Amino acid sequence: MAQQLDPGTHERAQPPAISLRNVVKRFGSIVAVDGLNLAVPAGVCFGLLGPNGAGKSTTMRMLTAQALADSGEIEVLGYELPRESKRARMEMGVVPQLDNLDVELTCRQILTVFARLYRVPGGERADAVRRALELANLGPRADTIVRELSGGMRRRLLVARGLIHRPRLVLLDEPTVGLDPQVRQELWTLIDGLRSEGVTVLMSTHYIEEAERLADVVAVMSQGKIVAEGAPAELVRAYAGEQVLEIYGPPEQLAAASDTAARHGWQSRRSGPALAIMRAETLDGDAPEGVRRPANLEDAFVALTGEEIE
Ligand SMILES: Nc1ncnc2c1ncn2[C@@H]1O[C@H](COP(=O)(O)OP(=O)(O)O)[C@@H](O)[C@H]1O
Ligand SMILES: [Mg+2]
Repeated sequence: MAQQLDPGTHERAQPPAISLRNVVKRFGSIVAVDGLNLAVPAGVCFGLLGPNGAGKSTTMRMLTAQALADSGEIEVLGYELPRESKRARMEMGVVPQLDNLDVELTCRQILTVFARLYRVPGGERADAVRRALELANLGPRADTIVRELSGGMRRRLLVARGLIHRPRLVLLDEPTVGLDPQVRQELWTLIDGLRSEGVTVLMSTHYIEEAERLADVVAVMSQGKIVAEGAPAELVRAYAGEQVLEIYGPPEQLAAASDTAARHGWQSRRSGPALAIMRAETLDGDAPEGVRRPANLEDAFVALTGEEIE
């Protein structure tokens, strides 16, 4: 395929690290992935954001050839899947959501096994293990067996394991689901560090805050399709505007405000105890009394998917 030239520098435009074209995956009558088109540019942290059941994990599993698409084309790091999936796998790091670590082994032993599996040359293995331990902040636990690690440490070990061969591309499926806020923060720091080293990261999440904090580009996935894609701030501007007006009060007052919004064609939704009216910057004098706040990715997400999460 012809490479596109960058008119500014005359350098070759980098091909995407991942591309999916018209990818469909069915489970019986369920269409888990429904004609998915996605291109993940090299060197960015890309967030696949969607509610449970949107098809995120199925998409991730197709990128590692653990699941086979019914139709469509998938390329990872220039390799065509599933034909060249083994070669693609050797060059990417995969951090699964489920912990499949051998509890009798130490951190160092697990990382050493994986270093060999991913063909890190013998003379470089010890260094690779040290580096991975350091990256995941597990140095002092190098010789602790998995059984004795906390949940957060185990998750960090999974990340270290996925990074042992210095992959150019890392896939993380719901990296912080079920973790407490402090451990989540630690993992965010780790993921952010990868991005600043130029590693391409594809991360799925149903945590809006996670996507908003970490991802350079977010693709919102709903019912097996991408419904919007862009930098978080762009998505907010495009789908939720600049400001949201929040109205607090007894149910009758909220119902009246909701009617007013509907009459004027203003987009509104219940948001916790409040009624939220989108694009408050465009409202006229009929707008109910309320508190204005900046629009956020959750507003855009709800506008796009019709789902409230978190
Ligand atoms: N192995 C499977 N067998 C049958 N249905 C599945 C299987 N894996 C996923 N699904 C269904 O496919 C849809 C998408 O699931 P999934 O990719 O896990 O979504 P997400 O990761 O976004 O929560 C859901 O309806 C789910 O129940
Ligand atoms: Mg999932």
